Amino acid sequence: MTFMELAKSRYSVRGFKDTPIEEEKLAAILEAGRIAPTACNNQPQHIYVAKSAEAVAKMRTISPCTYNAPVILAICYDTTVQAANFGEMDASIVCTHMMFEAWEQGIGSCWVGMFNAEELVKAFNLPENIRPVALLPIGYAADGIQPAPLHTAYREYADTITEL
Ligand SMILES: Cc1cc2nc3c(=O)[nH]c(=O)nc-3n(C[C@H](O)[C@H](O)[C@H](O)COP(=O)(O)O)c2cc1C
Repeated sequence: MTFMELAKSRYSVRGFKDTPIEEEKLAAILEAGRIAPTACNNQPQHIYVAKSAEAVAKMRTISPCTYNAPVILAICYDTTVQAANFGEMDASIVCTHMMFEAWEQGIGSCWVGMFNAEELVKAFNLPENIRPVALLPIGYAADGIQPAPLHTAYREYADTITEL
């Protein structure tokens, strides 16, 4: 699959099977995040991997958008490691890398911004210097899951691109 084929075929998966993710697939997803570009290569990202029943259950209480995923990643950054104020951007690139690697492995995901960051910090006792940016529920798409109608509602070329 070319990158363009990967990018065009991916969509947000909002319903998952209980089927666990194979360890080697999860490892590849995390590796794609580990090698993502970051400002000054400071690598301020910290990924919390909820895969035990207890951790997943806690994650489900802090967001309405975990969609029964068997594994939920919380993508965070460390304020003491980021270059300037680039931590959030870095974490976003890391999350994007993982989303595409997951898709290449046949694993669906949905970027989730709708979660309670304070509750996440409290629930997992995260250090003060750790800032959550996104959740990424991942897993095999449940039967019948389709892209949402908005998935292909792309704006026109000229609306978002200006040749200078
Ligand atoms: C920063 C960001 C925040 C998002 N937050 C949520 C969310 O909280 N819940 C959700 O179901 N989808 C969320 N999404 C997924 C978008 O709705 C989705 O990517 C968009 O509608 C395009 O659809 P597609 O991913 O299927 O191409 C988010 C995506 C991004 C990039």
